Amino acid sequence: MISRSLRYDAANMREDRVGKYGVKDSEWKEMLPRLRSAKSALQKLSRKNEQGFLNLPFERALHQESIKTSERVTSLFTDMVVLGIGGSDLGARALNQALPESQKKKGALKLHFAGSSTDPDELSSLLASLNLKKTCVNVISKSGGTLETMSSFLVFRDLLQKRIGKKKFNRHIVATTDPESGVLRELAKKEAYATLPIPTNVGGRWSVLSPVGIFPAAVSGVDTDMLLASARRCVDRFHELTVGECDCTQYAGLHAIGMGKRKQNIHVLMPYAKRLSEFAKWVRQLTAESLGKKTNRKGKTVFTGPTPVASIGPEDQHSQLQLYSEGPFDKLITFINVKNFSSDIRTPVSGNLDPGMKRFENKSFSKLIHIEQKATADSLKQLNRPNGTIEISSIDERSLGELFMFFEIAIALMGELLDVNAYNQPGVELSKKLMEKSLS
Ligand code: PA5
Repeated sequence: MISRSLRYDAANMREDRVGKYGVKDSEWKEMLPRLRSAKSALQKLSRKNEQGFLNLPFERALHQESIKTSERVTSLFTDMVVLGIGGSDLGARALNQALPESQKKKGALKLHFAGSSTDPDELSSLLASLNLKKTCVNVISKSGGTLETMSSFLVFRDLLQKRIGKKKFNRHIVATTDPESGVLRELAKKEAYATLPIPTNVGGRWSVLSPVGIFPAAVSGVDTDMLLASARRCVDRFHELTVGECDCTQYAGLHAIGMGKRKQNIHVLMPYAKRLSEFAKWVRQLTAESLGKKTNRKGKTVFTGPTPVASIGPEDQHSQLQLYSEGPFDKLITFINVKNFSSDIRTPVSGNLDPGMKRFENKSFSKLIHIEQKATADSLKQLNRPNGTIEISSIDERSLGELFMFFEIAIALMGELLDVNAYNQPGVELSKKLMEKSLS
């Protein structure tokens, strides 16, 4: 069995550390039975296959489909453009940023991302940089009807038809979409594209461990076996441990308590690693679309949901920290601390510097970033600002599998605690309808 990479230290979220803005023992005791019910509700949803995200790391046949297609694609092309938006984009992007080429398998493809915008300048500059003869296009859309993704796809489809020819252009396309329905599925059948399914019981933002995230990851040389194995381990821990022991249940419970009486409704995620900035954006979407709801599951108007913030350390110490330290007491902050970076740099010893400058000599950058993260957490604690730290051993497939699953479980549990449907996004519909109206 693989060892764990992730630890969640929530001591600074508690009253004994941060005073009246922290969680009291009595509140935690009251939360435990609620967490137990939330846990069984989530387990039931997954047992009855109503929600499939918890089962994804165990779906070996689905994983194999991605691997098989990735082997064909890797043997034919040098680059792959991933087209998608929201849940059909952010997970693959996060993985691609977190795992640089040096950490991936050799001979893999270089990934490019588009389809999350209709910014013409962005698409033009990508198109200008590609050799389409050597490029595969992975279009990802569960519904098949998303404006940004589909308009970008039509541009690529047209260019491929012109450059490769109408007979063979389809070999350059892999469509990841609903297994049966939707206009993309229909087009894929008609024009004979390779396809990968997004299970019907898995919604966009819950789909990173399905072919939505796994196929681009495999194509770019990520060890997807390890990624899924570590996500499985996180699911096993969720099932096996008590709600008081399990990391993700603790995160859900502590954040739900803060949202109660104390209205700590701004939830900041602040990784101290540039390679995790896209991951923080993935968490931001998962939190916002899953928990931001007008009505609860009984139909009562509640206008609920935390506002997630994707921050980055140490950069935001000189941008956001002033607000986190002295602004309103409406925030709960979570750091991600990386124990071992994949490289290190040491400041040189020059010998002839003034004392003011000399103190920066002979310092390791990885040590500096740890000092900065700890000082920030400690200063927030001293100022009575609740904060927690997720520590991962290093940024690799093992920690990423755990990180994705940690937040998926935590946010699903928060949905149960807030009594909202965490799997729909009715608020997005109005803007879609207005766009449709303008389009037609
Ligand atoms: O999480 C979600 O469900 C959304 O963010 C969708 O992923 C996003 O709207 C894209 O939808 P689709 O995959 O249907 O193109």
